[in-house]
Amino acid sequence: MPASPAPFDAFRYAHDHYHETVWMSQNTNHLFPTAGVEAAVRKAMEEKRYQGYPYAPGDPKLKALVRTDFGLPDTEVGLASGGTEALYMLTRALLGPGDEVIASDPSYLIIHKFVELAGARTVNLPLYAPPNRMTPDRVNEAITPRTRMVLLIDPLNPLGSGYPKEDVRAIAEIAKDHKLVLLNDTTYRDFSESHTLAHPFYPEGTVTVWSVSKNCGLAGIRMGGLLARKELYDKIWRFNTNDLGVNVFAQAAAVAALEEKPKAFPSVVRQSRENQRRIHEAAQGWKGVSLPVYPSQGNMFVLDVAERGVDPEALQKELLLKHGVFLRAGNYLSPGFGKRFIRASFSNVPKDIDRFLEAFPLALEATSGTSPKLVAPAAGR
Ligand SMILES: Cc1ncc(COP(=O)(O)O)c(C=O)c1O
Repeated sequence: MPASPAPFDAFRYAHDHYHETVWMSQNTNHLFPTAGVEAAVRKAMEEKRYQGYPYAPGDPKLKALVRTDFGLPDTEVGLASGGTEALYMLTRALLGPGDEVIASDPSYLIIHKFVELAGARTVNLPLYAPPNRMTPDRVNEAITPRTRMVLLIDPLNPLGSGYPKEDVRAIAEIAKDHKLVLLNDTTYRDFSESHTLAHPFYPEGTVTVWSVSKNCGLAGIRMGGLLARKELYDKIWRFNTNDLGVNVFAQAAAVAALEEKPKAFPSVVRQSRENQRRIHEAAQGWKGVSLPVYPSQGNMFVLDVAERGVDPEALQKELLLKHGVFLRAGNYLSPGFGKRFIRASFSNVPKDIDRFLEAFPLALEATSGTSPKLVAPAAGR
């Protein structure tokens, strides 16, 4: 019997066509200045730093920069291969079979997978309808005797919704009252108009996850980690998988980028906002397309195509194969609403956005009718 053809692998295709692809699929940042990072990596290369192990606990200069960046002097900084590895360690360390984590749908589902690997489960609050974020009331109602953790991703990937200070404070107080760990994933905080860290409201129980992937445009470098008070940090860091330290080039790149960030970031944000404004404006003319959250507080948002009767996976494939524009279909981010939307990130150079704006209506037209039309979900609280 002939073997059935392998399913289409969008990432394989996009990597094979890296230089022709407009990368708007992974919230990567293509606007951060590269010269400083490149010089630092080149220097580490010339000094042959790769021949020896790194200083295992991590470059103290990098840790100090992270602490200063967050304004949290009372924390330990853990370095890992991206926020992802830190998320794996902390779920492993703090959760066990039967435990529950209050989380959301949509969400960054890799964290949910790590929760499940620890034997725990997520209780997902549906956030696709306004106000598109967890409210203190809903968090309170979701708490059971098994709840151990609240996952607060702020701003939220993929919707781009952000949390007002009073909600961050109230959610932190709920976590404190119930002795829960508050996992504050701040991967996109630099894109936000006004971001509030949860840590100051609940220092002993908050783990803050940081990353230089999205703010500093270093996703390929794989550098991030966590910040927590010493007692909580020690509990988590027993599970550190990088006992011999994190990649020397990644550490050198992160130092250079964080030194440059205060000066460089305002123009990254300005361009990202202008890009999302242009997409929003164009979307007003695309029949059956809507933006559940605008403006986004992150560097991404979702385009709802359900009313148009478009299958997001068909749209993703059409955009990539016919136009070289790579967006991400919603099924990767939402068990409940993934059939409704496609996610676009927009910290790209303006000519990428030009190509997207040209391609999207054509791809919509080509894929109209690939899915039954879906009704909008009811508003939440
Ligand atoms: C909410 C969220 N947290 C964490 C990460 C992981 O980032 P990294 O491992 O690149 O630091 C991502 C990546 O997309 C994300 O969206």
